[in-house]
Amino acid sequence: MQKFMIMGGNRLVGTVRVSGSKNATLPIMAASLLLDGQCTIRGIPRLRDVAVMRDVLVYLGANVVWEKDVMRIDARNVSCQEVSEDLMRRMRASNLVLGPLIGRFRQAKISYPGGCNIGSRPMNLHLKGLQALGVGITERFGYITARTGKLAGSEIYLDLPSVGATENLMMAAVLAKGTTVIRNAAREPEIIDLRNFLNLMGAKISGAGTDTIKITGVDSLHGVEHTVIPDRIEAGTHMVAAAITGGDVVVADVIPEHLEPVINKLREAGAYVEVKDNQVRVAVDKKLKAVDIKTMPYPGFPTDMQPQFMALLTMAEGTGIITETIFENRYKHVMELRRMGADIRLEGQTAVVRGGPRLSGACVEASDLRAGAALVLAGMAAENGTVVEHVEHIDRGYERLENKYNALGARIIRVHN
Ligand code: EPZ
Repeated sequence: MQKFMIMGGNRLVGTVRVSGSKNATLPIMAASLLLDGQCTIRGIPRLRDVAVMRDVLVYLGANVVWEKDVMRIDARNVSCQEVSEDLMRRMRASNLVLGPLIGRFRQAKISYPGGCNIGSRPMNLHLKGLQALGVGITERFGYITARTGKLAGSEIYLDLPSVGATENLMMAAVLAKGTTVIRNAAREPEIIDLRNFLNLMGAKISGAGTDTIKITGVDSLHGVEHTVIPDRIEAGTHMVAAAITGGDVVVADVIPEHLEPVINKLREAGAYVEVKDNQVRVAVDKKLKAVDIKTMPYPGFPTDMQPQFMALLTMAEGTGIITETIFENRYKHVMELRRMGADIRLEGQTAVVRGGPRLSGACVEASDLRAGAALVLAGMAAENGTVVEHVEHIDRGYERLENKYNALGARIIRVHN
């Protein structure tokens, strides 16, 4: 187990570059299974979750060469369509192999990915959509077995705009006979990036980024090269890091339109935010005002930025109300922030955050990657020292976070227990 020792009080100043998007990389890696050939993906972040997805692809029989931020995947020899429980339990997003395995082999077997620290995270929408495509589903002994003789395009309505279900169904429909329409689809930028990758392979997909996606089945696909989009959640985390430390930071290599909800909320709180080409500058030289946050599917305020903004609100002027509408259990960071002196009251899915003086350092535990990132932000702004335990959660979604922040003036040491 590893931990961060953080000495708070320094302003962050300088420029930080954002890595490739974890949540675009994972579905795109899974989509490579559709291809009886090779593909090259660039801009790959060096993250634990990406390493797990690499292990899943290798387990299925793919050949994967990963050097720096470039990954070459050859799925010609994929012979297995079953993912073991051990691998599935290491990362929920392993369930993204379901769609491509069914799309190419007409069968797949995965164990339930299990819930995680932010909610039960069922897969009912994934399975209902696959059944609409003619896939038979059986769920027994903790495994989901999917099989079909013929994959036929269909109309699918998602009860809620699930990102993973939208991605799995897009991938399953690419080689189906006929046309599939996904209604109430998720609109996240990572879905547009997956569509771009699939269309480069020869798929015929339109409407990604809207709530209605049309996939016209094709007979075959071919190899491609693709560079993934920047990570908007990593970028948003760095923007809040600048704000919470009263710093002045340029976050580079971003797509500003993906950051609109975060830019607007920081401006509403009184931060100076300047957008220029593929950079966003955040500067704060006074106490920020409290704002209200309600997490929503894209283009609303992202749930993956909720913990980081909560940390910011603990030291703002006034009281902010946070409503988490996406996950039922995404407040594990509240008790940790309270240990640092934060005044936060939970009422169901709502957190009432009363801003106060600077937090004081404490020993806290990361429960998931975004909660862990929020505790790092709080530790950098707090008085005295903070220890963040279980930083392996943070490494799932952030590439050497301590190096990026130390280069801006933070004082973070990684300790291997
Ligand atoms: C993706 O998870 C992201 N992960 C999450 O990021 C992100 O928080 C989430 O989308 C929402 O934006 C990846 O892209 C790898 P969902 P996903 O299906 O696809 C319910 C991070 O920090 N639901 O959109 O699993 C579900 O329980 C991670 O990088 C069903 O009820 O999210 C949740 O309440 C955390 N039935 C809501 O929908 C289903 O079949 C949204 O889930 C599927 C989902």
